[in-house]
Amino acid sequence: AAGDIAEGEKAFKKCAACHAVGPDAKNKVGPVLNGIVGRPIASIADFKYSPAMTEFGAGKVWDEANLTGYLADPKGFIPKNKMAFVGLKKEEELKGVIAYLAQYNAD
Ligand code: HEM
Repeated sequence: AAGDIAEGEKAFKKCAACHAVGPDAKNKVGPVLNGIVGRPIASIADFKYSPAMTEFGAGKVWDEANLTGYLADPKGFIPKNKMAFVGLKKEEELKGVIAYLAQYNAD
């Protein structure tokens, strides 16, 4: 089943110290997340990604599978990437955040 947007909005509080999304969003510690579902990995021109993220991302996009793997276990999925986050361990949070972010794909 698709994620629950309200659940995802709550879970996004864990991301919001480092990431913004929405019409006025700017890069923070992490890159802006507008349009992230389907966006080429490491593609925000004015954000300085880690070499690990840039190398992993070559030719790849943030599809459902990559987002799920990365957000569940950031360091396990992309070793040496610089996102200091333990991951979303609850399936409802994980699916919810993806559904929440997908709202910002058509702007
Ligand atoms: C990268 C999502 C939490 C800092 C990313 C990317 C995504 C993402 C999708 C890749 C973006 C791209 O390729 O342009 C999330 C979500 C979070 C979360 C949904 C919460 C569930 C955090 C937190 C921090 C953080 C708490 C800071 C402590 C970063 C940084 C990068 C990044 C620095 C760049 C990584 C690199 O270049 O190696 N995040 N993030 N994120 N995030 Fe997060």
